[in-house]
Amino acid sequence: MTDKFLLLDMLADGRFHSGETLGQQLGISRTAVWKVLQTYTELGLEVQAVPGRGYRLARPVELLESVILDAIDEPARVLLSALEVHRDIESTNGYLLDKVNTGVSSGFVCLAERQQAGRGRRGRHWVSPFGANLYLSVLWKFDTAPSALSGLSLAIGIAVIRALRDNGITSAGLKWPNDIVINGQKLAGILIEMTGESAGPCHVVTGVGININMPESAGRQIDQAWVDMNSLLEDENISRNRFAGKVVEYVVSTLDSFSERGLSSYMDEWNRVDVLVGRPVVLHMGNGDISGVACGIDMNGALIVDCNGKKERFDSGEVSLRAAS
Ligand code: BTN
Repeated sequence: MTDKFLLLDMLADGRFHSGETLGQQLGISRTAVWKVLQTYTELGLEVQAVPGRGYRLARPVELLESVILDAIDEPARVLLSALEVHRDIESTNGYLLDKVNTGVSSGFVCLAERQQAGRGRRGRHWVSPFGANLYLSVLWKFDTAPSALSGLSLAIGIAVIRALRDNGITSAGLKWPNDIVINGQKLAGILIEMTGESAGPCHVVTGVGININMPESAGRQIDQAWVDMNSLLEDENISRNRFAGKVVEYVVSTLDSFSERGLSSYMDEWNRVDVLVGRPVVLHMGNGDISGVACGIDMNGALIVDCNGKKERFDSGEVSLRAAS
């Protein structure tokens, strides 16, 4: 069976290519070309066929390539042990977690054009259509116990906010613990998964999903309000490769400095972008709901809630949260 992704390198430019040229480049028949193109619909790509001109993608795609590395500044680049780009994967987080016991080094980065089983927080599915958004994960080894990393996911939220800001999105906020939102609509999510001994060391996989250009059909599968970068930036065309490089850069430098600095150096910025502070919230605990008013976070990344005049703290592992209206 022909690798179904081979034709994409040629079609990515959005121009017409005849069935004959496509077939010749790959050494396959025109019928085989046609069959491969049929599979693109399943990926969410629209292929147009015009008699006498050939085939083209309705929208050009900037495929992710190793040029991502060029967008990463030197101090972060030297911390990477590998950077892999996959066309199709179950989950970039799952892929790196499977690598933990194979002796790979810290700083392993995995990106994918599509995830078939993208993972969200609390067992949710992360909708990950082909060539549209950013799905990336970074594997990092910490010598500390997992409990010392309780604020890490909040610090990564700031890393993503900074990368967005560098790319013209200045109004993104954080909804505890680490949803990146604009006007109540989700723009990006972070999923941190760890394995290791309770006394350390531990391996941490930091997964980031950012909506860049969500196709309508895929958007309909998302069960919460969402937004993507393209609709916020209107005419501007985001380079997925350059943006991916910047996200990797900020995430890796946060992972590198976290053991020494913890969450403390991110607190001021967190407080500035905290969208919940002062707002009524409902926390869903295993044994019932708790209502109160969000009062920000503490140094360990726990949410502080004023419950009838008494300040209570909640760790992100034990609750799910909704902003009350
Ligand atoms: C959330 O629910 O907000 C977290 C979403 C995290 C999605 C990213 S996409 C890349 C990485 N791989 C996954 O399977 N999930 C994370």
